[in-house]
Amino acid sequence: MLSKTAKNNILETIGQTPIVRLNQIGQDLNVNFFAKLEFFNPGGSVKDRMAVHMIDRAEEEGRLQPGGTIIEATSGNTGMGLALVGATRGYHCIFVMADKQSEEKRAALRAVGAEVVVCPTNVEPDDPRSYYSVANKLAAETPNSLYTRQYWNPHNPEAHYLTTGPEIWEQCGTELDALVISIGTGGTVSGISKYLKEQNPNIQIIGVDPVGSIYYDLFHSGKMPEAHGYFVEGIGEDFMPDTMDLTSMDDIIQVDDRESFDMAREVIKKEGILCGGSCGSAVKGALKYAARFHDEPKKKNILILLPDGSRPYLSKFLNDDWLASTGLYDETSS
Ligand SMILES: Cc1ncc(COP(=O)(O)O)c(C=O)c1O
Repeated sequence: MLSKTAKNNILETIGQTPIVRLNQIGQDLNVNFFAKLEFFNPGGSVKDRMAVHMIDRAEEEGRLQPGGTIIEATSGNTGMGLALVGATRGYHCIFVMADKQSEEKRAALRAVGAEVVVCPTNVEPDDPRSYYSVANKLAAETPNSLYTRQYWNPHNPEAHYLTTGPEIWEQCGTELDALVISIGTGGTVSGISKYLKEQNPNIQIIGVDPVGSIYYDLFHSGKMPEAHGYFVEGIGEDFMPDTMDLTSMDDIIQVDDRESFDMAREVIKKEGILCGGSCGSAVKGALKYAARFHDEPKKKNILILLPDGSRPYLSKFLNDDWLASTGLYDETSS
């Protein structure tokens, strides 16, 4: 019995994450909100799905040999997914991270045996100090290494086309009207959208982008804006990655740091859902989107994908002193 029910290793617990109805947030709006909780994945985020898929494909294609080294530029979550693969399959991992990512994320990666290299956040992607440039250099210098290049790797969106999309369709089917997703590499939104639109082209796919990132302007005006810094982690970009398909979305909604952090804190307090900062962005984006359906006769079902959990952010947006130091906290904050 035990040998039949037990998973063979931790990677087999990735996916099949639960969907939970929101019971407090947005109850004044004429929609039903549901959240898909990706922090139920063993590495704590939606990124476990694409991490294991990128390595499976590299192994199949002979691009990663036993005992090799996995290299990635990561805001932490992709690194954790890759670190779990490294731990279970015997690969060494080196992760290059921008200095704005929380110390908890770095400590967690080191705990799973990875090496972490920290680079400055506010430099151009082609600057030799940027985390993309440093990862390129490490990959060139490290024998038997694979740089997974999540921003350019087609197996990133493919993972969501093959797993997350079908899973959402199985869980929601024809009752789903819209899906709201915060966007970084675009792998999640592009892969899920491709699958769901093949099943039902009427499902609305809504991306949420932080103020300071380029996607909102590119989508709405086709013009490349000047990017600027922001605090929310894991979403937005200052360049256009290959993994982002802007046509996969019916709309992109913009939210700022304050809205994201206030909303994440409110979701945690009111729903007991221990979510991360970009989940606050997604929920706030969903509330803005849902306001359009004020006069609809039938309530729409809106699913919000929550990419990760609270634990990596205990010293960041969940810490009042840190939040106050950014100017994003006052007596009106959640
Ligand atoms: C916390 C968090 N939210 C959202 C995303 C966005 O996912 P994607 O890169 O698939 O667009 C990421 C990606 O790193 C993330 O780490």
